[in-house]
Amino acid sequence: MSDRVQPPFDGVVYQIYPRSFRDTDGDGVGDLEGIRRHLDHLAWLGVDAVWLSPIYRSPMADFGYDVADHTDVDPLFGTLEDADRLIAEAHERGLQVWLDFVPNHTSDQHPWFQASRSSRDDPKRSWYVWRDPAPDGGPPNNWMAHFPPDRPAWTYDEPTGQYYLHQFLPQQPDVDWDEPELAAAMHDVLRFWLERGVDGFRADVVHLIGRDPDYPDDPEHLLPAGRAGYHDHPRTLEHLRGIRAVMEAHGGLMVGEVNLPDPSRVAAHVGPEALHLGFYFGLIGAPWDAAAWREVIGDADAAFLAQGAWPTWVLGNHDSPRPRTRFGGSEARARSAAVVLLTLRGVPFVYAGDELGLEDAEVPDDRVVDPGGRDGCRAPLPWVPDEGHGWAGEPWLPFAPDAAARAVAVQRDDPSSVLHLHRRLLAHRRDSPALVRGDQGLLDLHPEVLAFHRTFAADERLVLCNLGDDDLEVDLPDPANDPGAPWTIAVASDGAGEGATFSGRLARDHAVVLAPGSGSR
Ligand code: GLC
Repeated sequence: MSDRVQPPFDGVVYQIYPRSFRDTDGDGVGDLEGIRRHLDHLAWLGVDAVWLSPIYRSPMADFGYDVADHTDVDPLFGTLEDADRLIAEAHERGLQVWLDFVPNHTSDQHPWFQASRSSRDDPKRSWYVWRDPAPDGGPPNNWMAHFPPDRPAWTYDEPTGQYYLHQFLPQQPDVDWDEPELAAAMHDVLRFWLERGVDGFRADVVHLIGRDPDYPDDPEHLLPAGRAGYHDHPRTLEHLRGIRAVMEAHGGLMVGEVNLPDPSRVAAHVGPEALHLGFYFGLIGAPWDAAAWREVIGDADAAFLAQGAWPTWVLGNHDSPRPRTRFGGSEARARSAAVVLLTLRGVPFVYAGDELGLEDAEVPDDRVVDPGGRDGCRAPLPWVPDEGHGWAGEPWLPFAPDAAARAVAVQRDDPSSVLHLHRRLLAHRRDSPALVRGDQGLLDLHPEVLAFHRTFAADERLVLCNLGDDDLEVDLPDPANDPGAPWTIAVASDGAGEGATFSGRLARDHAVVLAPGSGSR
């Protein structure tokens, strides 16, 4: 068994978008104190780590992904002391704290960039990517920014007569990791937080930090929008080596946003001298269709394992429509997707609000704030059914539909809720070595059913999810360790029959986790 790939992390990570979690000071934006007050709730839910989207000082052009000071907390969120307190109190409850690390760019208000743009001779000029105009006076190459749409990734800076690179907003200039002083300064940022007790990082668009220093035209950027930004240059791996050395010295973990469509290219950024984990987003793009899910899961699982990398699974985040919205608003499908997310081989990431079965908010034109069009999935979390839903001030975005019925307090009181389903899944996962670190095999039981078998020594589970249009019957294989024994429903997406022997009948849009043995009822 020594060739078995070991998970670098056994737990489940819960992503908090701090602006949208809970406001305690009345400015309509969530804050660190709001997170601290709900640590008991997160411990009750049963997640193992919280990852906070950026909390650093920022002009908020990209809502924190434009960092103006890496070693201070934005006053909207609180203070460094609030961060220390949050970390300490999370640790008291056995929860890890992971921060977002934004290595590809800073804010244009960052003192590094202010110095860099001040003159061609400034010592920090080379910390960013400055290039002369093309012969026709236009941008140095054909790269397009991710957003806003139809914008070159270069902006001309009149005072010094050169263009600077920004793969996102013009307010987010790209740094240059080939400059050793910049790399060292970024390493210091990691150390600063690791020494304050942070357990890990999620590295933002980390696949973009390695680039061809000649900045050649990129044919991909001539393709329709949506394909831009899939840069994949081997220098990224060199930069990751230095980052990993810092993490090793402090014992922290790093999951990288390697936003590449080919899972084997994501896995190539994971390893003992690279990332501990790399995000794979295939499930975010998969329609509600068994063949599509089998393909995404089978391909990614094989690609990761072949390279000795432990997979990751993501159904939602602050950049994508929520899973319930993608699945046509169906709560049943959102529940079943959660069953799959929390039982697949790999580290699952749960985006705050998905455990409530939230849909995207409908954001009227006059309340749109994100230049990337992602406001809907960033709606504030409803804590209580009453007006204001526990927010001290009018929130920065409208609430999602049915916020009162889906509020945390309501769902905590209702054992049949989506929230309780997540709690049962998390508890069941924690107690099952097969689910945490076991082998996995996809089974062909029925064309409309996603089925997989997880095993670790004597522990095994069978997971079934009906993605078809009809209720159906499946013939199950015998448990590997107990031939002839029936299967018991350990967790059901609708809660029905848990603890009973499974009949083989699976309703449309439903999922079950089965364990060997005959049911108690
Ligand atoms: C990542 C983040 C996204 C951000 C972008 C630029 O994709 O998840 O929210 O806008 O990087 O930092």
